[in-house]
Amino acid sequence: NGGNGTAPAGGGYPDKNITFVVPFSAGGPTDTVTRMIAEPMAAKLGGKIVVQNVEGAGGTVGAGEVARAQPDGYTVLMHHIGMSTAPALYQNLGYKPLEDFQTVGLVTEVPMTIVARKDFEPKTLQELVTYVKANASKVTLANAGIGAASHLCGLLFQTAAGVKLQEVPYEGTGPALTDLVGGQVDFMCDQTTNTSGQISAGEVKAYAVTTPERVKSLPDLPTTTEAGLPQLKVSVWHGLYVPKGTPQDVVQKLSEALKVALADQKVIDQMAKLGTAPVKAADATPEAHRARLQEQITTWGKVIADAGVKAG
Ligand code: MLT
Repeated sequence: NGGNGTAPAGGGYPDKNITFVVPFSAGGPTDTVTRMIAEPMAAKLGGKIVVQNVEGAGGTVGAGEVARAQPDGYTVLMHHIGMSTAPALYQNLGYKPLEDFQTVGLVTEVPMTIVARKDFEPKTLQELVTYVKANASKVTLANAGIGAASHLCGLLFQTAAGVKLQEVPYEGTGPALTDLVGGQVDFMCDQTTNTSGQISAGEVKAYAVTTPERVKSLPDLPTTTEAGLPQLKVSVWHGLYVPKGTPQDVVQKLSEALKVALADQKVIDQMAKLGTAPVKAADATPEAHRARLQEQITTWGKVIADAGVKAG
């Protein structure tokens, strides 16, 4: 017990390791954000958090596993905008985001960058649009599978450019970026939490960032609006989930630990270096997160239906 004879709130939770499932490869943006908050959350919870990468199908394999896990607070999902796009992309998804999950809270919103292998011919976003139109059959566009943030941003780019490109799916944009640096694939849309280092090191060519304002940590990178593609706007919101039916006092403890992590100076500094920031405390509540998920499912459902994309 709490040592002073009273059982700690939440019925002694946690009394064993908590698994945070990341539905993409280690070393990618989702994994990076998860490991940033896992440390201060574990300290606040007084337990150990183990991060487990469960890849596949644009994040839907990992999300499906958590949907079917015991609702006891020992299996937590970190996922992003892909939680809201999957229902429109996958016929037999195997889970319903709003029914099979309990939201814990939003974590961060991450800008996306359009990056290419460093010797790729186009020098600007406008030149990229012209180039891909003229070479659609041979340009390769990497992503992390249908439903991934990189896939969604790639979809928005192709719609804006009026072109259909050959997509190369990876288990996460960690490995995709490795191939981009190695020149094996031409370009991709990926989050600043993954691309910032390679952009600053000159290992990839960066065309633009997909947010209305420039990113402080990448001051020379124009926004898509400045670069002439204003319709290409997207930022990748992330949230934590537990299976539906997880006891409310456990959800509450996780939500409180998340709020502490988002106020942790080390987390704030790490996120700033990678072009992002923790969400406001008001958004780190289960209710605010659920409202955002609901609105995003509707919003992206329309965009995806209009683009006529299906994963099968
Ligand atoms: C990752 O963590 O690999 C990315 O989130 C994949 C993606 O959604 O593009």
